[in-house]
Amino acid sequence: MKILVLGSGAREHAIVHRLAREGGHQLYAAPGNPGIGALAELLQVDLTSGPAVALAARRLKADLVVIGPEAPLIDGVADALRAAKVACFGPSAAAARLEGSKAFAKEIMRAAGVPTAEAVSASTPAAAAAALDRFGAPYVVKNDGLAAGKGVVVTDSREAALDHAQACFDAGSPVVVEEYLDGPEISLFCVTDGQTVAPLAPAQDFKRALDDDQGPNTGGMGAYSPLPWAPPDLTGQVLDKVARPVVAEMAARGVPFQGLLYCGLALTAKGLKVVEFNARFGDPETQVVLARLETPLSGLLLAAATGDLARARPLVWSEESAVTVVVAAENYPGTPVTGGVITGVDQAEAIPGVYVLQAGTALSDAAELVSAGGRVLSVVGLGPTLTAARDRAYAGVRAIHLDGSHHRADIALRASLS
Ligand code: AMP
Ligand code: GLY
Repeated sequence: MKILVLGSGAREHAIVHRLAREGGHQLYAAPGNPGIGALAELLQVDLTSGPAVALAARRLKADLVVIGPEAPLIDGVADALRAAKVACFGPSAAAARLEGSKAFAKEIMRAAGVPTAEAVSASTPAAAAAALDRFGAPYVVKNDGLAAGKGVVVTDSREAALDHAQACFDAGSPVVVEEYLDGPEISLFCVTDGQTVAPLAPAQDFKRALDDDQGPNTGGMGAYSPLPWAPPDLTGQVLDKVARPVVAEMAARGVPFQGLLYCGLALTAKGLKVVEFNARFGDPETQVVLARLETPLSGLLLAAATGDLARARPLVWSEESAVTVVVAAENYPGTPVTGGVITGVDQAEAIPGVYVLQAGTALSDAAELVSAGGRVLSVVGLGPTLTAARDRAYAGVRAIHLDGSHHRADIALRASLS
């Protein structure tokens, strides 16, 4: 197949890496990154322009376009591709509102009877304050728009919660204030063609910047799969209580969701509740989920894109565990320091069971690999146990050098002891 992957992060590198393992495909990426460029031909296309992406896909005679990040989805790139009769893995702009608007996601969940945190929308400081007092601490305040995982503040400080609400109002966005969900978080990716739902393996992400879940929220600092501590019927519960009802509700409204429904869940004392939906693969969970997927990814994504998922074969998973550790630039999740030379990627990849996925990287004029974003690398370790996978991922991280970079030291630590 000729497959075009849109995006430039480690998630897209993981997708391209998994597709490349199948052999025989012609792979393209736009804009990609130097790591992706080793596996796919890189194209310069304006990802915010549906017509530009559709034109590029038609020129390539692409059999499938896979949209990695949320922004092109919200901008309607999937709609433009479908209108141009190009098979596309990714929902329409209308369906991607499940991620793009927290208020819309809540409305769908209410209509579909899906368990989630109680929430109130607020567009004035007074309304936000009243909502904070209704739920009490810890306070959860979310920007009601796209914020790359960084628009949420969870805090015991009423003042900090109000400050975040004010910052969102100043930027023109209302906020959602919600009940705090107490319990471990799980990410479950569901591939869907708008009717049939195929769940992938559950993973756990580490959202806070620092060890022991301290510090600010980030896009994600690491992940692992499988989850040895999770209830054995977890996937079945998510399918029955969350994914199938949401997919059916969207279809009933005439906005079928075709692509990847990312279910972010909290396992609370009162059962499973939805923290958030995303309309795309999660980053960094994709790095570990796809590392364990034995079934060809191309067939799965094409079946979802063409409404053929009911006939797809059941997915097969490796018994191996996978851990990924994100190497982030100095000052991330604030404005990252960029342009630092990255060394040791080859040494890391010489370790058995280790590979390095690139995100915020670029090639300098001197053809050196340099940092170009907040999350720079995602180092993946595979092994027979979580402990082995973790040891390998960290051995890979130790082989790499980038001045000022930081990573969490406790990715998959607790789970590996369970
Ligand atoms: P979101 O952008 O909605 O995914 O939120 C980012 C992160 O904030 C989540 O992964 C959680 O760690 C945390 N979070 C969001 N909503 C809640 C909530 N209601 N209760 C507790 N933590 C939350
Ligand atoms: N890992 C969280 C996300 O992709 O939004």
